[in-house]
Amino acid sequence: MKILVLNGPNLNLLGEREPNIYGDNSLSSINEALAKKAAEMGFETAFFQSNGEGAIIDVLHDARRDCAGVILNAGAYTHYSYAIRDAIAAIKIPVIEVHLSNVDSREEFRKTSVIAPVCKGSISGFGKFSYDLALIALAKLLRGE
Ligand code: DQA
Repeated sequence: MKILVLNGPNLNLLGEREPNIYGDNSLSSINEALAKKAAEMGFETAFFQSNGEGAIIDVLHDARRDCAGVILNAGAYTHYSYAIRDAIAAIKIPVIEVHLSNVDSREEFRKTSVIAPVCKGSISGFGKFSYDLALIALAKLLRGE
């Protein structure tokens, strides 16, 4: 079973982007560690990052064909992209919403997630470990535990 790890806008700059909020780790180092953990748990992984809404939607559509589930950090699109929300609703595989920062403790606009209602669940505020927690949740879900 393959899990897609999908990151949205500005997450390519992790490590240099506001490290006080998002931490010192690059996206590639987070992805590498996640791939290793997923492999130990018996899952394949695919990784994709885009700063564009359309590319994220296309990758979500494609995932319905060959992925069992998705770990999604949609970045700022989380807060206003009805198009990404509709793409998640359109595919049948489970999507877990992830944020490095605790979005509820920040600016008002970050307290709204338009994707949360169509995601299986949301994990926010644990830095890079948010991805690990999402992986554990998705693995349990996919194994029917
Ligand atoms: C983020 C939180 C969003 O509000 C922000 O726009 C991001 C990153 C996070 O991982 O904490 O780009 O999704």
